[in-house]
Amino acid sequence: MKPPRHFTHLKDLSPEELLALADKALALKKSAPKDAPLAGKSLAFCYMNPSLRTQVSCEVATASLGGHPITLSLGAGAGGTWGMESVEGAVMDGAAAEHLKEAVPVLGRFCAALGLRSFPAGASWDEDKKELALAAFRKYSTVPVVNLESASGHPCQALADLATIKERFEPKRKNFLLTWAPHVKALPMAVPNSAAEMAAMAGMNVTIARPEGYDLDAEVLERVRRHCAAHGAALTITDDGPRAYEGQHVVYGKSWGALSDYGKPPCADAGFRAKWMVTAAKMKKSDGALFMHCLPVRRNLVVADEVLDGPWSVVLDQAENRLHAAKAVLLDLLVAASRTPADDHRRHPR
Ligand code: CP
Repeated sequence: MKPPRHFTHLKDLSPEELLALADKALALKKSAPKDAPLAGKSLAFCYMNPSLRTQVSCEVATASLGGHPITLSLGAGAGGTWGMESVEGAVMDGAAAEHLKEAVPVLGRFCAALGLRSFPAGASWDEDKKELALAAFRKYSTVPVVNLESASGHPCQALADLATIKERFEPKRKNFLLTWAPHVKALPMAVPNSAAEMAAMAGMNVTIARPEGYDLDAEVLERVRRHCAAHGAALTITDDGPRAYEGQHVVYGKSWGALSDYGKPPCADAGFRAKWMVTAAKMKKSDGALFMHCLPVRRNLVVADEVLDGPWSVVLDQAENRLHAAKAVLLDLLVAASRTPADDHRRHPR
């Protein structure tokens, strides 16, 4: 049997494939399919962590394409599934009652595709970056798997973000700033990793502004560097947060934890927070930049009210585009992939 195609990491896509998926999402936003391409298919979206946008966009996308979405809380006790083990060869004498080695293929007997949200544990980046649960889903699933945010990436968010930029201008050669922002917690690196990788794949000049110690993972940075070089675009990494806004077309604000002090909350000093919070004064230095954030966001800590409520903000469009991006991904995995050359000939008989 042919192994299923998955949508779990941007690195598995070519820049052309990512750009085409974003165009597909925008086409679906303008015009929904008339038939019900997922009719008769059930899809299971599995969560080890909370969600608003991802859960609702996946459910609505599936239903609007004629499919049946099932949302599962993995190992969440009452109302959830059994506790899940993901370590190969584990002696299961702890809380986990079921191994993903059985659970994933069982779900595949019922469902046409699976999704998984699995955040990092926050104790060791070397352990978290193994993404054991997502790796088990990829390994044991007989049906396509969609990453709904893992330790290292959030490809569905990045796809919606790219569609949001493409709705306004062609990204190639435009300037994209990913700026670190203050927070009370050490947040996962999935969104900043995927945002930087997406912008580089789209041919943008990428600037990453972050305090010392807050570099992205070296493998992600290497891919960003390679994509920028392939497009003749620049990659700049700076700790001069305020100056980095100059000349930018997109400002993507996001907090993330320091790899150098993994799992520890960032400095709460007022001067440090003021230097890194996204404010209107800083946005005014940009070239009329869009302000982007994946949400949820903490107002007046990550970003000032005047930016979120001001003319720069496209955060609600980003959230809406999660729905159209989800539809594009599901159709790509479940409909386009199963179409035969004969089907294409019937649709386009010339
Ligand atoms: N941006 C995003 O993934 O939102 P949720 O965590 O609410 O799904």
